[in-house]
Amino acid sequence: MEAQLMQLQSLCIVVLMIAGIKVHRNRKLHVKIMSFAMIWDIILILQIELSRSAIIKASNAVTNSMALNIHVSIAVLTVIFYGFMIQSGRAILSGNIQLRKRHKILGYSTMLLRILTFVTSFWAVTPKV
Ligand code: HEM
Repeated sequence: MEAQLMQLQSLCIVVLMIAGIKVHRNRKLHVKIMSFAMIWDIILILQIELSRSAIIKASNAVTNSMALNIHVSIAVLTVIFYGFMIQSGRAILSGNIQLRKRHKILGYSTMLLRILTFVTSFWAVTPKV
């Protein structure tokens, strides 16, 4: 149950980010949605870290350690990319318009990494049959 709750939150974050990209022309709304999604994601990571063993027990799940390592590595990379997004986004807002292209490429890469984090979470923790 707990693991599904985390995965549901993870799905909401992905959907929120896709919506945030869709409204990028409305800068204020874009920044609000993306900031909210990134903060929620960090809170989700903290929830997972604080209840890791509980999740495994409560969900009666088995972990696949290689898949879990891959999942965690992609998740860590995603958070590193959040740093680049904040940095390039703030630079565009303060007038450095040349960074838009970089922000766009990094933005789609971050989105892809976040989707991969979501997908590999199912692969890393599979329910016992
Ligand atoms: C995971 C986080 C984020 C993602 C995936 C993301 C993604 C994107 C994408 C795909 C665009 C469209 C670029 C284009 O077509 O030219 C964009 C535009 C933009 N983003 Fe972000 N972004 C994120 C976070 C942020 C943050 C934190 C800020 C500000 C602090 C920001 C500020 C902007 C600005 C100012 C634009 C240009 C809007 C315009 O004039 O059209 N973004 N972003």
